[in-house]
Amino acid sequence: MKIIISGYGRMGHEIEKIARGRGHVIVATPDKKEDWKKIKLSPESCDVVIDFSTPDSAEIVVNHCLNSGVAVVTGTTGWSDRLEKSKVLCYKTSGALFHAPNFSIGVNIFFEINRKLAQMISGHNYKARLNEIHHIHKLDAPSGTAIALANDIIASNKTYSKWISGNAINKETLPVFSERTGEAPGTHLIEWSSDTDSIEIKHTAHSRTGFAIGAVLAAEWISGKSGVFGMSDLLNSTS
Ligand SMILES: NC(=O)c1ccc[n+]([C@@H]2O[C@H](COP(=O)([O-])OP(=O)(O)OC[C@H]3O[C@@H](n4cnc5c(N)ncnc54)[C@H](O)[C@@H]3O)[C@@H](O)[C@H]2O)c1
Repeated sequence: MKIIISGYGRMGHEIEKIARGRGHVIVATPDKKEDWKKIKLSPESCDVVIDFSTPDSAEIVVNHCLNSGVAVVTGTTGWSDRLEKSKVLCYKTSGALFHAPNFSIGVNIFFEINRKLAQMISGHNYKARLNEIHHIHKLDAPSGTAIALANDIIASNKTYSKWISGNAINKETLPVFSERTGEAPGTHLIEWSSDTDSIEIKHTAHSRTGFAIGAVLAAEWISGKSGVFGMSDLLNSTS
């Protein structure tokens, strides 16, 4: 496939390695707004754009791809408030958009465990807290993964109706704590505690490779499809 990597930073470089290793051709690696002016984006020049850029640029990049008839995979986090508009544009243009706040297979298994635990513990006397730790360069907090985990807890558990960044303000509010330190690729910890015991589940990424593999698999999978997709579509699919 002919791939454009949008955002040639930490993730962009990792994706390039994985994509080349799987025999794909990288036709461009735009890394700022001006770079896009030199690219004639069309289905002939590119099969799929993989975007891991910034919260401010992702919406523009994704909409540009959809308006140009090119499938787009985006892992950029911190712009979920604008994502819905891009999904509408995707349906309007009969385009293809794949979005995941986390492309790692391990984290997507962790999502399932989190939902199941939140559901099983519902109605028992446990309080939850969520901690996420990432490298100091990360622009958004809480992480997109932490937000997805928190929303899943709210959907699966009777106690919680909203989440908050920091200390809880009442018992219906799930506290989410963010820590930025060193070069940590990403850790998510959920703790449920009662007076008698506690249960913890934790996922730690050892490197960015798992995210990059997931993003390239998504790019291969989305080719020739139209619609809005996420990791559950990829993982539950046989095609
Ligand atoms: N979904 C996942 O699995 C996953 C995993 C890791 C990181 N992320 C997210 O991916 C994004 C990138 O992470 P990173 O660690 O590579 O960041 P990074 O800062 O290393 O790279 C981002 C790059 O985007 C470039 N950029 C800015 N404007 C652009 C534009 N208009 N077009 C193209 N590129 C542009 C920047 O110059 C920068 O080099 C972040 O939002 C991060 O949270 C998601």
